[in-house]
Amino acid sequence: MTDLSAAHDAAVTDRARLAGSAYNGDRDLAARQSLYQWQTPRYDLPGLVAEQLGDVRGRVVDIGCGNGKFIQRLRQDRPDLSLLGFDIAPGILAGVPGPVAVADATRLPLASGSVDAALALHMLYHVPDIPQAIRELARVVARSGLVVASTNSDRDKAELDDLWQRAAGDVLGIDRGPARISLSARFSLEKASAFLGEEFSRVEVVELPGTITVYDPEPVIAHIASYRAWADQHDVPFDATIDRARTLVADHIARHGAYEITCLGGILVCRR
Ligand SMILES: C[S@@+](CC[C@H](N)C(=O)[O-])C[C@H]1O[C@@H](n2cnc3c(N)ncnc32)[C@H](O)[C@@H]1O
Repeated sequence: MTDLSAAHDAAVTDRARLAGSAYNGDRDLAARQSLYQWQTPRYDLPGLVAEQLGDVRGRVVDIGCGNGKFIQRLRQDRPDLSLLGFDIAPGILAGVPGPVAVADATRLPLASGSVDAALALHMLYHVPDIPQAIRELARVVARSGLVVASTNSDRDKAELDDLWQRAAGDVLGIDRGPARISLSARFSLEKASAFLGEEFSRVEVVELPGTITVYDPEPVIAHIASYRAWADQHDVPFDATIDRARTLVADHIARHGAYEITCLGGILVCRR
């Protein structure tokens, strides 16, 4: 039997897959981000990050900036800051207003102590050597500066993990199919403080619990389909599993009026 978690870890950090497929544009990332519009309470994540940067002046770098959701908001709310975005995927950077550049979190093209804050939002779990990326964050941020990271809990959206296994089981004709890949497991909210605590003496965790409620399967289906870059990791036909999941969610909504997903994400604010 293959070690599913080791294979999944390798696939979650595979640079060719990240840059060439998962984040070669923003379709899949946008599908994952947009599910939160049905969350209660509704958190304004870019606003919360901007709030954490309240006392910061000068230069801020967003590492793994993706489709620029945070950079664009900061440009609007904090025109006084000098903002720079980095990502390993040139395709996703194409739509982000500059300055942005292709760069790897483990080898930042920045002088030591040259930025006043660094963001690493929902991205450290994709880095093969997480401690090295955290050393780089600590190196480039000035002594009085701060790092804001974010990720999800191991318990986040557990209903979708269950939905996937039930749908995959139906496709394969067994009770429960194999687990779907977890992107954040390598740097989950439960693990993040220990990783960051190696370089930062103060790590404050802001937990963001919530419930997503949908009355139509499509936003949920778009979310699970956004893992298509890892379709080969699932040991089950991906599209057939998605179709079966759509039917299961539609049946659930027909019986209960809505489909609910419990969420737990969090922000980690790190200082030396
Ligand atoms: C889940 S997205 C998050 C995007 C954005 N930070 C956000 O929170 O909306 C992860 C991003 O990290 C980028 N990434 C993955 N590994 C990276 C690395 N080693 N260095 C820099 N960026 C990386 C991916 O290309 C992708 O755009």
